[in-house]
Amino acid sequence: MTLLKVRRLELCDLESRVCWLNSPDVYRRMTVTVPLSLEETKRWYVGTLLNTSRHDLAFSLEDSGSLRVVAMGGVTDISLTHRHAEIYILVDPCLTGKGIGGKAVQWLCTWAFVSLGLKRVYLHTTGQNEPARRLYDRLGFVREGILRSHLWHQGRHVDRHVQGLLREEWARQTWYQESLQMEIEL
Ligand SMILES: CC(C)(COP(=O)(O)OP(=O)(O)OC[C@H]1O[C@@H](n2cnc3c(N)ncnc32)[C@H](O)[C@@H]1OP(=O)(O)O)[C@@H](O)C(=O)NCCC(=O)NCCS
Repeated sequence: MTLLKVRRLELCDLESRVCWLNSPDVYRRMTVTVPLSLEETKRWYVGTLLNTSRHDLAFSLEDSGSLRVVAMGGVTDISLTHRHAEIYILVDPCLTGKGIGGKAVQWLCTWAFVSLGLKRVYLHTTGQNEPARRLYDRLGFVREGILRSHLWHQGRHVDRHVQGLLREEWARQTWYQESLQMEIEL
């Protein structure tokens, strides 16, 4: 895969974001209430701009000479007291299984540990989202527990899984050295 470019999420990304989140492959596994509208997402976006404890980003790849946004992700609930934050990633549903999610998560972790100086990153997945958990397992995240029947999701209660990666665990991953070469400035 060629180099993933990263920048802040912009207003022009929201149409794609809505489209991806309204895709069954995504909303069946994520805690999103569909149909999601562009207006709602614009309101959410304005809120993110005012929220200093989160950064929402767009990942792009070069496609026929121009940049195409292939994933969106972020670091949220950043606590400088506890030095931890949550991460999330969302890949264009047409482009899954090509290594984009894995590379984007590596970028998010490296940015969180190097640029934000965090000690721990963690994330949540719903019970149905075993594919995402496998991706995080592969990257070295530890399965830390399950909040049973924690969420009301599409007409039923579902489990919420927690996985985490500590700074010292990140430094032991096979992808650590390579991730330090990534362009991690925004
Ligand atoms: C979960 C998600 C982020 C994975 O993204 P992705 O780009 O498909 O991830 P990757 O391609 O890096 O890895 C997925 C699989 O493809 C395989 N893969 C990676 N590169 C590959 C390549 N070049 N060729 C073939 N397969 C490849 C990986 O081995 C992995 O296999 P596995 O299912 O056995 O673990 C994506 O499906 C998504 O956006 N889901 C909806 C949102 C979500 O659930 N987010 C997580 C909660 S925050």
